[in-house]
Amino acid sequence: MSKYTLVIFGASGDLTKRLLMPSLISLYKTNKLAEKFTIIGVSRTKFSDEEYREKLKNDLANNKYDEKLLNNFLSHIYYQPIDTADPEDYSLVNIKLKSINKNLDKNNILFYLSTPPILYKTIVKNLSSVGLNQEKDGWKRFIIEKPFGYDLSSAIDLNKELAKDLNEDQIYRIDHYLGKEAVQNLIVTRFANPIFETIWDNKHIDYIEITSAESIGVEKRGGYYDNAGAMRDMLQNHILQTLAIFTMEAPQKMDANGIRDQITALIKNIKIFNEKDLNTNLVLGQYSENSNNDQKLPGYLDEEGIAKDSKTETFIALKLNIQNKRWSDTPIYIRIGKRLPKKLAEITIHFKENQNSLFKNSARNSLIFEIQPDASLSFKFNLKEPGEGFNTREGCLDFAYSSIEKTTHLMLGYERLIFDALKGDATLFTRSDTIEACWSFVQPIIDYKNNNPKVYQYPCWSWGPKESDNLLKTIIER
Ligand code: BG6
Repeated sequence: MSKYTLVIFGASGDLTKRLLMPSLISLYKTNKLAEKFTIIGVSRTKFSDEEYREKLKNDLANNKYDEKLLNNFLSHIYYQPIDTADPEDYSLVNIKLKSINKNLDKNNILFYLSTPPILYKTIVKNLSSVGLNQEKDGWKRFIIEKPFGYDLSSAIDLNKELAKDLNEDQIYRIDHYLGKEAVQNLIVTRFANPIFETIWDNKHIDYIEITSAESIGVEKRGGYYDNAGAMRDMLQNHILQTLAIFTMEAPQKMDANGIRDQITALIKNIKIFNEKDLNTNLVLGQYSENSNNDQKLPGYLDEEGIAKDSKTETFIALKLNIQNKRWSDTPIYIRIGKRLPKKLAEITIHFKENQNSLFKNSARNSLIFEIQPDASLSFKFNLKEPGEGFNTREGCLDFAYSSIEKTTHLMLGYERLIFDALKGDATLFTRSDTIEACWSFVQPIIDYKNNNPKVYQYPCWSWGPKESDNLLKTIIER
């Protein structure tokens, strides 16, 4: 791979510390970065290069990296303080780039915008005004963090603004779910195995469940979350993308446009809700205080940064339908929530019952794709109960990615996505039309919620408000 510089805006922020730097170190350790790469951290805080390296060293202390490896990695890192809102300051970025890359023939740059979303337009505009969008002397790519837009109209507006200075192929809208091995596996397991591909439709599948449960609450992100809620934080992006990857038609080619064309087409086929549908297909919840012998967890309204009368949802139960030949009549049930009993993201396919079964009490088949905490796949089927007669019992075939972890490096989500952006592979990034399709689906739900703010309470560690039990087909064991 050619030489390049990664410029991170938001370099003193939490994402850089928790996920970006560990992902970059992992790429470095596995020799996936170019020999001559440099990283420039940009943010408002004043650090010298050396001070920023020291800060990172402290930030990363708990990761217990080999000291030599970490020092070698840090020797590639530089820092430039700027006021991102001040156009004058952007020439400093250019000067810094020139000073550290003076011997390079190519000026390939990946900008990573990990700042509050309100700054995205400003940063791109100001970088462009000092020529850093121009590709004459090397490629210029821009990773834009989520949330991309606050609603449909702001997402359209942001796309338009970015398009004034950048070509679509320079923009990498990141959704870290697509970087997860288990999410990419949804494409491979299905399309590489005729046994699955032939039964992937409404003739064979009764319903599908998607669960994204988290045990954590809003943590220190109350200010952001209270304006976002689970709808903007999870449904609009991670969940719709995962759903689409799982249910899309076969791409013409396994490349960026082949896959993204099908993802977009699928999202456009999800039935857009009207108010009547939402009265029966949606339940929202908000977690409330709970305690056990060891611990007391605060309710959402008592978390830092949350308005005392907030109606923001931390839980969504939703039943949706895809209106195409393959999926009409196969409902999809979605459960998203914070402060649920455990961290679990999975997709379960419930196959139709065997109408002509010779066996009483045989269970229906199901296929479970666990995305996290374990990346795994399980198929549940009937086999013979040992002993007299021909009775059935449930058996299970499993594969877990952890079983190959010792011999295969499993990339972190951000690691894979940064690597792809450096290579110029946009397959796992969201295209402008896809983002707009996602918002078009979510916008009526947001509008409905704004008019009918019924948000049911559920205690921390429960599986959501009891009002959602009737809606969700299978209730996870309590
Ligand atoms: C982020 C959301 O995008 O995804 C968080 O902003 C959420 O609220 C997180 O906790 C979940 O990601 P993961 O990889 O832990 O499932």
